[in-house]
Parts: sequence; C-alpha cells; structure tokens
Amino acid sequence: MRYVYLDNAATTKTAEEVVEFMQEVFTEKYGNASSFHKKGREAKQLLEWARDVIAKKVKAKSESVIFTSGGTESNNLAIKGLAFHELIKNKAKKHIIVTSCIEHSALLNTCKWLEHFGFKTIKLDVDRQGFINLHQLQDVLENYSKQILVVSIMTANNEIGTIQPIKEIAKLCNEHHIVFHTDAVQALGKIDNEITLKHADMISISSHKLHGPKGVGALIVREEVKQKLMPLLHGGPHEFKLRAGTENLPCIAGFAKALQLLKEKDKQHMIKLRNKLIKELSDVASLNGPYDEKAIKRACHNTNFWFGVDSEFMGLWLDAKNIATSAGSACHTASPKPSHVLLAIGLSKEKAKQCLRLTLSKYTTLEEIEYAIDCIKTFTRKYASK
Ligand SMILES: Cc1ncc(COP(=O)(O)O)c(C=O)c1O
Repeated sequence: MRYVYLDNAATTKTAEEVVEFMQEVFTEKYGNASSFHKKGREAKQLLEWARDVIAKKVKAKSESVIFTSGGTESNNLAIKGLAFHELIKNKAKKHIIVTSCIEHSALLNTCKWLEHFGFKTIKLDVDRQGFINLHQLQDVLENYSKQILVVSIMTANNEIGTIQPIKEIAKLCNEHHIVFHTDAVQALGKIDNEITLKHADMISISSHKLHGPKGVGALIVREEVKQKLMPLLHGGPHEFKLRAGTENLPCIAGFAKALQLLKEKDKQHMIKLRNKLIKELSDVASLNGPYDEKAIKRACHNTNFWFGVDSEFMGLWLDAKNIATSAGSACHTASPKPSHVLLAIGLSKEKAKQCLRLTLSKYTTLEEIEYAIDCIKTFTRKYASK
C-alpha cells in the first residue's frame, strides 16, 4: 500500500546506508572513545572522522564541532552556555538576548527560562513572508549594544521555510562585536552555502532532519566563542569540556554518513517537486511564506498552505489516505493554540488553524506528489467551501 510521507521537516526516514553503517559501529566498533586500548582507539578514530566530515560541511575546524543530542540541546548549549558564563563571570552585565518571534520552541523557551535569572529577550518582528527587518535589528544593536549577550536568528524556518539574510545579520553583529548564533537545523543540506562559521559564531544542527539517526546533533562554535561557553552537563572532559558523557558513537557516525550521502541533485529534485506542489495547489490554497522557484529565499523541502478548512480535520482525512502532513511544528501538535509563526506573519487565529505543512525529502517521488495533489483537490472540492 502506497504511503506518502510529507512530514520531512518533523523528521526524515533514516537512510538504509546509514543504518547499515551504524550496525557495524554497534556490533564491531563498540569501544569507548576515551579508552586507551585498541577498541577505544578505533572508536576515537571513528569519532574524529565524523567530526571532520561535519566540520568540512560547515567550513569549520574539526575542534569547532561539539556533539550533542540534537538541535534542542545545541540551542540550549549555545544560549544557556553563554548566559551562565556571563552570569558567573560578569554578573550578567550583558543580559539581552535578541532573537526573532518565529524561532523554534527550543530557542524561544530557552530564552524564556533564562528570564528567571534576569535575562531579557527582544524578539524581532517578521514581515508577511517571515523575514526579519534588518533596520529593526540595526536599531536594536545600536541602542543596546553594550547589554546584548547574543543575537540568535534561525537560518531557515521549520514551518514556512523562510531563509533569513544570514550574511547581512552576521555583518551587523560583527560590526557591533556581538556573538551571532543561528539555528540551522532546517537548513543543513538544503542551503549549504549559507551556513558556515564564516558567517555565524555558533551553528546548531541536527542529524534526523537529513536522513541520519535521531538523538544526535552538534553545536559548531568558533574558537574564541568556545571560551565564553559554560557546559550544561558536568562530568568528564568529553567534547572539549563542553558536553560531558560517553559519546553516542553509532549515532554520531550515522550523522556523518548521512551528511556524506547528501547530493546537490537531491536539492534540485526537491525544488522541482515543491514547485509542482505550489503551482498545482494554487487554485485551492494560498501559500504561507515566501515564493521563490530557486529555493534561495525558501528552503527547498518546505511548503505550507492555507486551505480554509480545519487543519486537524484535513490532516486526519489525508492520513486516512496514507498521506502524512503536519499542522506545523511537530513539537506543537498536541497544542490547541495556533502556530506562533503563522500568527507572526499576519494570519488570524482562525486562519492559522486552517493550514497544513507539506515537506519533502530526497525520497519523495513525482508519483507521490501527484497522488497527494489529487487527494487534496478531492478534499477541498468536498469541504473547502462548507
Ligand atoms: C528549526 C528547528 N530547531 C530545532 C529543532 C529541534 O531539533 P531536535 O529535534 O534535533 O532536537 C527543530 C526540530 O524540529 C527545528 O526544526
């Protein structure tokens, strides 16, 4: 029976080559990378190979890669790591965190929690397509430059795919000597050229969004910024003393393998299917987020539409047809609240509850997209005007 998985922004299928590779690590390379014996050395070698693969992808030195349990932990380490260091060393003289109102909850809730310790969050607005306003950022930087701890703006949005002007943001932060972090979880492998340590001081990435295993990711940190980070986990000296605990080698190796498997042609494939979806659904839905055929302003795997029908009802109807979609961020599916991202781009509460996100991967086929389009059109003919 056909199953059309269009929820790849939530997570992706682990590539078979990755599973095979990890299998060998589980059964053969099971040593602890900190052990001195042969099995330990073998594990250490594999760990450093994976670090190197990931570092090359973001044009960083391998010492810049700190393995974590995923995007959530990477965002927490970046922001809390800086905040606790500042709190302990300088009594939080720099206590303002500048971010956007459409960040992932892993970032926004980290900032919110830090407010218990006296930190303040400034959330930049976004326009109807989800872009921040660089003039607003510049004003904030000029007005508060001495108090700002970090600017954190995501590279690509997980709900509407908007790709922020990372180079320009980095330039502004640089001019004001302010640390710039970007959550690139939805961008890695989708818009490679933008995500390097040349632009950001810290980058959060996650393996399971690109056909790697779940529960592993990394924070890439520029050397000078590493000194300003406090670890969240205390214990052994793993990961340059920034993340204690025996490394999850099978998943780390799987993450690197998944990155190696990504090809430019996969991106082109997703762009083609995505553009077809957008074009063919234009008469029954309106697109949320930017439209751009070449995926320069919108991540290549993302679509999000307003259909004018309750998204839960529509999602379940499509689920019965074996089509997996999402009403927004997977972290909020249990929440009855409308998406903060859709509200931020100007949708009413009612409209924000009538949207579905359809996200692609390199495994999505043309036949699957055609089947999804057919089913969606059947659905909207039946229910959209009622
Ligand atoms: C933009 C963004 N940041 C962070 C995360 C959290 O990543 P992880 O699931 O690896 O913790 C996600 C996952 O949905 C995401 O889309």
